[in-house]
Amino acid sequence: MPTPDSSSPQVVEGLEGVVAAYSRICFVDGVQGRMLYEGYDIHDLAAHASFEEVAYLLWHGELPTRVQLDALNRELLGARALPEPAMAIIKGMPKDALPMDVLRTAVSVLGVYDPDARDNTRPSNVRKSVRLTAQIATVVAAIDRARNGRPPVPPDAGLGHAANFLYMLRGERPDPVATHALDVALILHADHELNASTFSARVTAATLADMHSAITSAIGTLKGPLHGGANEAVMRMLLKIGDVSNAVPTIKQMLANKEKIMGFGHRVYKTEDPRATHLRRMSEELCRRTGQLKWYEMSREIEKYMLAEKHLHCNVDFYSATCYYALGIPIDLFTPVFAVSRITGWSAHVLEQFADNRLIRPRAEYVGPRNLTYVPIDRRG
Ligand code: COA
Repeated sequence: MPTPDSSSPQVVEGLEGVVAAYSRICFVDGVQGRMLYEGYDIHDLAAHASFEEVAYLLWHGELPTRVQLDALNRELLGARALPEPAMAIIKGMPKDALPMDVLRTAVSVLGVYDPDARDNTRPSNVRKSVRLTAQIATVVAAIDRARNGRPPVPPDAGLGHAANFLYMLRGERPDPVATHALDVALILHADHELNASTFSARVTAATLADMHSAITSAIGTLKGPLHGGANEAVMRMLLKIGDVSNAVPTIKQMLANKEKIMGFGHRVYKTEDPRATHLRRMSEELCRRTGQLKWYEMSREIEKYMLAEKHLHCNVDFYSATCYYALGIPIDLFTPVFAVSRITGWSAHVLEQFADNRLIRPRAEYVGPRNLTYVPIDRRG
């Protein structure tokens, strides 16, 4: 890109460090490695809360009472089944379609069938947030079943959100260790301030478009390997490496080739990502119990090397890859599983945007030519 002259306004590429909104949903301190949802430390929530409590916290700004949580659980249960036309579209997709593409399409379709479709008030948008949280889990499980030629597994009203997702995916009830691991992973991924997909959701919402449009935008943004797609890329890299003894030599070669190592680096964190602390521990536990500790060991080798050589810490996607792999989740569902959680943060940000809205419309510094004269098509060389 040409360098603008000194009279040009300063362009902040990638909007790094730009503060674009007031928000009380998620606090991130990239220097101290601290992260809060609505004032509660992520470590405290990961240790004690359930994903459903965290969802309520993000939408309402306070932890639910028992009565409020029971009501939310009933609403989530009631919203798990998809409208038949949405399920038909999932079933009709090509078997080799990317799950993120099908998820993005399904959420857009769900907007058409939403009972509150034309209502953009807060009560309606809170209902849409709950509904989408329940439905996205069903969509992701149904995508995997459909492409394998299997019928969707109807939701089990006796299971919480994390356990029911694993049940709908695999067709058997998960054990408590798997359920707890996924529940914690969902808590850790629920929100992260103005990350790219959330910003995308807020830009769409700021035009006063509807919740489903904002979430569809967010899913499209999450897909990229520099954002949510990194967890899939991490697992593919580990599988290619294959063995612990190959880990460091492969990474060295990749760095020498100027390749980025997926799952490392972060726009905000310059120290350990507090979410990675939990995911590392969970990865060890889950890989050990499946007799596949080598994926964890390989990750540790890479992590130590990247820190020593590049001063880069791993991010949320690095250890979530091996956690999901050990949970038996297919690799191309890792990013959709991110969405199963992040829908709560996205929708909370949409609610916050609507509550005090201003169109988000930055400027670009024009660096193209000026004063060109139109040449009729037949005279163009
Ligand atoms: N592997 C190797 N080098 C990396 C790296 C990685 N994963 N992440 C950053 N770097 C290096 C860059 O090459 C660059 O070096 P340079 O200054 O010598 O050119 C420097 O660190 C800054 O990186 P940059 O890409 O400009 O930072 P950013 O803030 O724009 O991007 C990420 C942040 C997350 C997109 C970036 O770290 C990345 O691409 N990571 C891999 C993808 C990933 O894991 N994404 C999930 C994020 S949660």
